[in-house]
Amino acid sequence: MPRILVVDDNAAVCTALEILFDLHGIEVESVDGPPAALSRLERGGIDLVIQDMNFSRDTTSGEEGVALFGELRRRQPDLPIILLTAWTHLETAVELVKQGAADYLAKPWDDAKLVVTVRNLLALGSATRTARRMTDARREARDRLAREFDLCGIVYASDAMHEAVTLATRVAHADVPVLITGPNGAGKEKIADIVQANSSVRSGPYVKVNVGALPADLLEAELFGAEPGAYTGAQRTRIGRFEAADGGTLFMDELGTLSAEGQVKLLRVLQTGEFQRLGSSETRRVRVRVISATNADPQHLIRTGRFREDLYYRLNVIEIRVPALAERPDDIVPLAHAFLGPRAELTANAEEALLAHGWPGNVRELANCIQRARLLARSERIDVADLGLPGRRAAEVATATDDGEQPDRTAVETALANSGGVIARAAAELRLSRQALYRRMEKFGLKA
Ligand SMILES: Nc1ncnc2c1ncn2[C@@H]1O[C@H](COP(=O)(O)OP(=O)(O)OP(=O)(O)O)[C@@H](O)[C@H]1O
Ligand SMILES: [Mg+2]
Repeated sequence: MPRILVVDDNAAVCTALEILFDLHGIEVESVDGPPAALSRLERGGIDLVIQDMNFSRDTTSGEEGVALFGELRRRQPDLPIILLTAWTHLETAVELVKQGAADYLAKPWDDAKLVVTVRNLLALGSATRTARRMTDARREARDRLAREFDLCGIVYASDAMHEAVTLATRVAHADVPVLITGPNGAGKEKIADIVQANSSVRSGPYVKVNVGALPADLLEAELFGAEPGAYTGAQRTRIGRFEAADGGTLFMDELGTLSAEGQVKLLRVLQTGEFQRLGSSETRRVRVRVISATNADPQHLIRTGRFREDLYYRLNVIEIRVPALAERPDDIVPLAHAFLGPRAELTANAEEALLAHGWPGNVRELANCIQRARLLARSERIDVADLGLPGRRAAEVATATDDGEQPDRTAVETALANSGGVIARAAAELRLSRQALYRRMEKFGLKA
């Protein structure tokens, strides 16, 4: 059961609140002033505080309340605090809301509204705590993996990426081909590096070949080697990538473009370890761990007859899918910080703009974006404008969260009406902080 601490020197107020919340299944403890409140807080278990502003009979300045509020915030910055105040002290209350108080209610308060506000704040608090616990658990799982395996400096926070990385470390030791799929720049090669670095052949050669970048007629020679005169211009013996990778790992990127004959040869070497150099009838044998990657949909290539099905099943004994960056937004800010390095920082608006962008170029695009921002920014604080992100959403974030004219009076009025006057909810709808919403309400002369 959630528990509220009421701080008021008026016993009647305490009793009224105890009865009210008891009806709603919320436990209330009351104390009569700041010293008792602070010592109760020490003992823990309080989810929300409702506090008065004056605690001695002869004071009405509200200073005691301000001091208590400051002390509570200092000790537990996340604890929601609702202020109970006389109408004559509304400015003080508004000022404290700007400093982070959850809400204020003028005495005599409206019971129904108080209950709604408290309920919302408690729900918000438990959601935040759950999120934090989950993040902790995730970080713990990732750190454990990093202690056990060489993760090649990969940066992530998302569950989706944790799954891909875990799978990579698990299959690393087995001597089976691995196919890594995912869109451009998502980190397929990074995953390949992890497989290689944790394999039993990690001390052997690690050869990478971008199949997609080679002209079709050179590809076979590149993979399997060639004898002099095997093709026009071949003057010397050429060692193929399979031979170079013997006893180690061969990473083949963008396999989708391999010719039909190339595919037959590849299938054979995968099945038997045997191949011949171009222009030679001598059969050679190698032992190579093959990792391949493609950003094409292999099933589509097979259906359209551009890729042999049997070769595909040879290559993808294990398939690791690397999701697009947009599918794992939790990774965006950690990656941005990693690319920024320790000295530079991102403003809150810049982080929001990064989260709002769609990242069609995935991690590579993010890395480039941050690199450009570092070059262009005039200080070590990177702001939205430095990121140079195109599109409307980034621009919207920039204007909605700085203190410009957005959102307008009508938007604020509508959000307040929709939320039944609950500030936290209206602020969430407008994507503003509570403080920013209060500033706008003040500016437009609006009341909750
Ligand atoms: N999770 C990550 N942590 C740190 N760096 C990353 C991560 N993912 C990708 N990178 C970096 O982003 C760049 C692009 O990643 P990578 O080359 O692995 O992508 P890819 O999927 O192989 O792309 P392509 O399809 O274009 O070949 C590289 O510089 C890589 O080191
Ligand atoms: Mg790649």
